[in-house]
Amino acid sequence: MKRAWWKECVVYQIYPRSFYDSNSDGIGDLRGILQKLDYLKELGIDVIWLCPVYRSPNDDNGYDISDYQAIMDEFGTLADWEELLAEMHKLGIRLVMDLVVNHTSDEHHWFQESRKAKDNPYRDFYIWHPGKDGREPNNWRSFFGGSAWQYDEPTREYYLHLFSKKQPDLNWENPRVRREIYQMMDWWLQKGIDGFRMDVINMLSKVPGLPDAPVVSADRYHFGGQHFVNGPRLMEFLTEMKQKVLSRYDILTVGETPFVTTRDAIELADEENGVLKMVFQFEHMDLSAEIGAEVGTTKPWSLLHLKEVMTRWQQDLENRAWNSMYLGNHDQPRSVSQFGDDGQYRVESAKLLATFIHMLQGTPYIYQGDEIGMTNVAFESIEDYRDVATRNMYREAVEEKGVDPNLALQVVHAKSRDNARTPVQWDSGEQAGFTTGTPWIKVNPNYKEINLADSLADPDSIFHYYQKLIQLRRENPVIVYGSYDLILESHEEIYAFTRTLEEDRLLVILNFSRNSPVFHLPDSISFVSTELLINNYEVNPDKDIHEITLRPYEAGVYRLK
Ligand code: GLC
Ligand code: CA
Repeated sequence: MKRAWWKECVVYQIYPRSFYDSNSDGIGDLRGILQKLDYLKELGIDVIWLCPVYRSPNDDNGYDISDYQAIMDEFGTLADWEELLAEMHKLGIRLVMDLVVNHTSDEHHWFQESRKAKDNPYRDFYIWHPGKDGREPNNWRSFFGGSAWQYDEPTREYYLHLFSKKQPDLNWENPRVRREIYQMMDWWLQKGIDGFRMDVINMLSKVPGLPDAPVVSADRYHFGGQHFVNGPRLMEFLTEMKQKVLSRYDILTVGETPFVTTRDAIELADEENGVLKMVFQFEHMDLSAEIGAEVGTTKPWSLLHLKEVMTRWQQDLENRAWNSMYLGNHDQPRSVSQFGDDGQYRVESAKLLATFIHMLQGTPYIYQGDEIGMTNVAFESIEDYRDVATRNMYREAVEEKGVDPNLALQVVHAKSRDNARTPVQWDSGEQAGFTTGTPWIKVNPNYKEINLADSLADPDSIFHYYQKLIQLRRENPVIVYGSYDLILESHEEIYAFTRTLEEDRLLVILNFSRNSPVFHLPDSISFVSTELLINNYEVNPDKDIHEITLRPYEAGVYRLK
């Protein structure tokens, strides 16, 4: 595979609201990030992906943007942002900004104009339709619950919103919209940023006529993805975006692309002439949630299924496109709670998951707090939750569908996006050292046991393990570029594979269980000697690896010579 900096880097995702509060108003901010850059440098990451910091009324914590070229008041000023970028670059850390262009806030001046009158020059910036038989124009369900349409009194029409009703979808069919977006992107790139993470970028193009979604239940609204995911003009729009903007800069671009297959990913991020550098796929995240999951549904995942999904992505993209490796972000439960064990084996399993995302082929993305093994939270009352999706779904489940409130709350505990949005736990002091004020969302009460100050002091901590993985990745091209081969395919507890780059070969052994299965090296793999690269338990570096009784959540990486 061709070499590129964005393949070799490790990305750290910051959700600014919950990262660090520098001025005691309870909300994380840009100066808070500035104060913690040395910490991130010490961790060793190369790139920060910053979730939206643009002006926003915060219906969806910044994913509802009212001004693309201004900073959210609570986060600071454009001058603060410029200082942050300059400091980052001084430290050799690149900045990837979030690009949210499927929709704006309803408070964006385009929408304010658009809703005024049918002949307003901004009318066609959004997707307006008259009602059908006194109801919404179609039966699409919003991702955040309820109809995807909102009736608007001034012009007596409905506008489309795939997300909250304060997030009207932009009309990408309109060339003026596209031009405005490209200019805005260029404005940020001219300021020196190093890339974009593109929010739900495969939903820009809607099927003309906006046909009804298939009716799959007794519900009133249904998932309309087949009419807006990877829609008919998506590639055309993105190709234009590449021509007009992206191709002129050496940047990292990663598309957030729910429901993509490996074939879609190759089309979008083709090694030779893709429009993007890589995409986030969701198959592995959806193993434990039904598609379009609603409150009331969770399902267990199996390691065999995870192996099948990851192996397919590794193999299909080899030499064709590039993977992004992640197990959590601001929309998902904490990775250690979802894929590991957040109780007895929290430390071991957090290290195992870190090994997993760093040792597969692809660019690793670390979500803030995962480097200290932060876990899900279980607030007692729905009132403690802040996320618009969580609150809507809970209300819908309890009030409209009659789901038992305790059951609904259990699902919230397991699945809410707020699991990942509690403040970063910096130390064991008040409010976990995140703020000296009252945090916008409660801290996870486990901060006395799980916090960064303790992790820094402990040489065996998850933090130091991440630091070592990042360093190994920097020193060993095989970790970045080596090809992937699964072994022990049908083992239900052990996930093992090799990575090979010319003469260099690594063996990765991961015990995804709390049991002690025995690892047997297949006969097909031969070598003269081994070198231990990393292990999350004490091991004798000269130990024979043909047969190993693994400890709970043991993870080890060996070079085969
Ligand atoms: C993406 C974001 C999520 C947001 C949604 C709407 O999925 O990651 O946080 O709510 O898009 O912008
Ligand atoms: Ca603040």
